[in-house]
Amino acid sequence: MLLLSDHEIDLCLFDAYGTLFDVTAAAAEKQSELGDQWQALSSLWRTKQIEYTWLRSLMGAHVDFWQVTGDALDFAMDTLGMENPRLREELMMLYRQLSAYPEVKGVLAKLREDGARAAILSNGSPEMLASAVKNAGIEEYLEDVLSVESVGIFKVHASVYQLAVDRLGVPADRICFFSSNGWDVAGASHFGYRVVWVNRFGQKKERVPHEIDAEIASLDELERVLVRK
Ligand code: LAC
Repeated sequence: MLLLSDHEIDLCLFDAYGTLFDVTAAAAEKQSELGDQWQALSSLWRTKQIEYTWLRSLMGAHVDFWQVTGDALDFAMDTLGMENPRLREELMMLYRQLSAYPEVKGVLAKLREDGARAAILSNGSPEMLASAVKNAGIEEYLEDVLSVESVGIFKVHASVYQLAVDRLGVPADRICFFSSNGWDVAGASHFGYRVVWVNRFGQKKERVPHEIDAEIASLDELERVLVRK
């Protein structure tokens, strides 16, 4: 039995990009070529990628996260005056194999060892997620990898969070959701999950309705907030 504060938890559900996988890793790999623009590119790429998920969801114009990621990279490169199709292709290929944060594998292995259920719920397309999960060597620790492609709309639409309830048969309030994205934590909490904000980037709390059950700086601290009873 796992407890988050006083709440009984049956499933640990993880966001993927930014929480398990380092979204800056692709541009960082190309640091020697990008020079001091690598961080600006990485940051704008990520910001636009997320904005496009929200825009497309509101517009009712869904395409998968691979397309959105490419569109966002095109916008970012255009903004920074980078016209380079080869570099674009290489960055996209690197995005398929983003490295996991250093503690991820050990934390998931420990959860499995303790008999806890763990899964991913992500905007990522099934192919992108399969590739990143394989590259990180964490397949064996995950019961399922759920993609929004099953519902055809991005986070923070309620049907995305409902997907884990339906597929994994766990009531929302017995799911503990981990995300580094403040807006994703907000969406998940508003839906009814218990949430742990993995605030890797020291961000401020989003001003939309939600309640955070616990905040940690990395998954290394998971056992401090989610305890075995
Ligand atoms: C995901 C985005 C939010 O993996 O990072 O769903």
